[in-house]
Amino acid sequence: MKDKILLLLKKTDGYISGELISQQLGISRSAVWKHIQKLRYDGYPIKSFTNKGYHLNSDTDLLNEAEILFGLSTKWLGKHVIYQNETTSTNNLARQHSTMPHGSLFVADDQTAGKGRLGRTWASTPSCGIWMSILLKPDISMQSISQLTLVAGLSVCKALREYCNIDAQIKWPNDIVVDDKKICGILTEMSAEIERLNYVICGIGVNVNHKIFDPTIADKATSVFLKNNRLTPRAKLIQAILKHMEGFYTSYITGGFVSIKDEYSASCATVGKQVRIIKDNEETIAFAESISDSGELVVSIDGVQTTVYSGEVSVHGLLGYV
Ligand code: BTN
Repeated sequence: MKDKILLLLKKTDGYISGELISQQLGISRSAVWKHIQKLRYDGYPIKSFTNKGYHLNSDTDLLNEAEILFGLSTKWLGKHVIYQNETTSTNNLARQHSTMPHGSLFVADDQTAGKGRLGRTWASTPSCGIWMSILLKPDISMQSISQLTLVAGLSVCKALREYCNIDAQIKWPNDIVVDDKKICGILTEMSAEIERLNYVICGIGVNVNHKIFDPTIADKATSVFLKNNRLTPRAKLIQAILKHMEGFYTSYITGGFVSIKDEYSASCATVGKQVRIIKDNEETIAFAESISDSGELVVSIDGVQTTVYSGEVSVHGLLGYV
């Protein structure tokens, strides 16, 4: 009943009277009031005015299962959601629930042990970011799994462009950057037996409502808030990411990476730049020429063309991070 009242409040632009809610839902006005109190307790800023009724301030950033599902336009991605206020890492949470269906979503407000690429930690400031993981069960080869990370990167990039109006770009393979600073990182993990893929967990971290960063990362990190100077409802941004990811994933599964290559390349900040390729502490200077049909970075080193695989390398610009 609480969720039905929430739905009515969300659908109403101005005020809705307690009388109308009680009529529409067939409950007493005192029951309406009790549910409104519960919603307020959950954090929903509901105002009430005599002779007018109730009004929900929609400019809030509340994150919970109902907020993620309400207005989600996907067919299958994110339709099963587990939300927790706190977890170690949403990738771990997804692993614990790996029997759930393909496309299940795991979201937390806070991660106490957020994981980054190459064994690094991921700073997950509570109530600020999108810390989420998607459980995927694709029928693809092990070698193709890194392409899923590119699919996710492109989806986040497009969601940031469309929903937040931010000029986001991809730093190959899968960091999303704005003004040469990182706004999103992706960590893909998998479970497999010899030659058989069980599942893939695509962990996505987006810096959304951060007003400030720890001095150790402040020169490399940015957030949607720092770009737009206002709060972004994380649930809505999650919905935008999922919508694009469902589309790109479907193209990828039916047509391979090549079917999204042009769109990926057009958003890739790495292509056309001199880059430093760091592998096992060794640095090589190269020119990033293009993205291959299977998502590798095609570079030339001293005029010789070669391909870089995303696995264990870091690629940075000559002067900065991008
Ligand atoms: C990176 O750029 O190093 C990857 C960062 C990935 C962070 C996300 S946040 C959600 C998911 N859970 C984790 O522990 N890591 C990923």
